[in-house]
Amino acid sequence: MQFDCVAEFEFTKDLREKKSELDAVIEQANKTILRKGAKDAREAAQASDWQLSSDGKRLTLRIESGAVVRAHAALIRLRNFLNEQLGPKLKTGIRGLEIKKFEVKGITLKQPALKPIEITCFVEEVKTSGDKASLKLKDLTPALIEDGAVDRIIRLVEDKVEAQNYEGKGEAKKLLWASTKKQAHYEKDPALELEARSWMRRTHAKAQFVFGSQFVALANAFKELLVEDVYVKLGFREMYFPKFEPWAVPQRSGHAKSIYPEAFFVAVPKKSDPAIWAKEMDYFRITGEVLKDEFASKLDFVGIMSYAQCPPFWRFLEGKVVLDESLPLRVFDWSGPTYRNEAGGTQGIARLEEFHRIETLWVGTPEQTKKITTELSDALTVFFNKTLDIEFQKNWITPWFLAQEGKKTLSDKASEGVGTTDFDAWLPYRGTREKSEWLEFQNVSNNGDKYPKAFGVKSASSELWSGCAGGSLERWACAFLAQKGFDKKDWPSAVRDRVELAPELKFA
Ligand code: SER
Ligand code: ZN
Repeated sequence: MQFDCVAEFEFTKDLREKKSELDAVIEQANKTILRKGAKDAREAAQASDWQLSSDGKRLTLRIESGAVVRAHAALIRLRNFLNEQLGPKLKTGIRGLEIKKFEVKGITLKQPALKPIEITCFVEEVKTSGDKASLKLKDLTPALIEDGAVDRIIRLVEDKVEAQNYEGKGEAKKLLWASTKKQAHYEKDPALELEARSWMRRTHAKAQFVFGSQFVALANAFKELLVEDVYVKLGFREMYFPKFEPWAVPQRSGHAKSIYPEAFFVAVPKKSDPAIWAKEMDYFRITGEVLKDEFASKLDFVGIMSYAQCPPFWRFLEGKVVLDESLPLRVFDWSGPTYRNEAGGTQGIARLEEFHRIETLWVGTPEQTKKITTELSDALTVFFNKTLDIEFQKNWITPWFLAQEGKKTLSDKASEGVGTTDFDAWLPYRGTREKSEWLEFQNVSNNGDKYPKAFGVKSASSELWSGCAGGSLERWACAFLAQKGFDKKDWPSAVRDRVELAPELKFA
């Protein structure tokens, strides 16, 4: 990889009369700080072609370098060096630094680019040819450079090429286990019957329901059985995770890379002064309509509604060093729904925009994490197979945390157990077992070091890993009712004995 950068330093003083001293300082930089870490001149960065402007206050120079002392690092080193040297020697300092040109050539990609790559900011041009890429950057500031933006731009190109290579290939998926075939007692979409019996009612929003007491009685039976069969045995305790995520959460979890099209954004008034909202208030009184046109300029978009449920937990441990005696930590959260804007299509209670998930989370050493992942996965398998008597398969798939960043690969630590197992149920109303799409109603993941790293959480004596599992109550109900129907005699006894249904509502 080669870097070519042209930068302009602005000084506080006219340096025309001190040109030779300035030359000497730059020469010295070339021999010292721009060589640091390099074996020879070829690996080093080199400042050249420097020129002073006609008023003597601005210096343009070029920095060329290879992959060892990269130009962005060299530029920051040079700025710091000039700052140290120019004060005592030339009685001046740096007022500004502007990056006029920054090019990166000869990037070797892991896979060939299949079509042109576009990067929508900080990049003027990306050229690719086979497995080589070159970049012309723009709008770079010293602060961005110092913060590592150039390396992140190169990584973004690599990621986009990787995504091209996975496009259309479908998700990586491997069958791990299948329950026995079970008798289907029902063949319709249970969502239709649920509405017909007023166990739930569709709201004015897309794919959101008001759930009535009968549906909740069924969901509560699931929850009670889960606590008894799984959580008590494995030592999980309940917590409340927030359901609104300030941007700090998706920024750290990586959801900020790609979540926008699927997010429910949260906005609050920049100022809550009623005078600012006077027009909206009057307009509604007169027309009965909400005047949304001028909202955007008066609102601050503070974050998103929780999407994956476990990320906001991590603020609880952020920046802490957890003592061994507190590990492993085993918790679950069902304190509220999570949200997805499902532009691609919603369906009955199988794909909702607001749904009630049971999120289970564990944190520990890699060994503890692996052990709990297996124990939980096994206990859930028994729970769904025996207690709820659902027909399902388990599949090893792209980890949810990569999928939600827009990736389709398995984890690079898959051999160490990092990744996601999906539990997929047959829905008879969708067609035969062989030809229809099964419903993911539960997943269990070993998330490796992703979350402790992202939130700066450490263990006092070991590496720290975590895992999580998510199952939506609506999807559990969907799988259960789609296979068993509404006649309680076809339900497994554990569920039947626990569900006490109130009389159904009657309407005129
Ligand atoms: N957080 C995981 C997911 O979003 C498990 O719920 O799939
Ligand atoms: Zn999770």
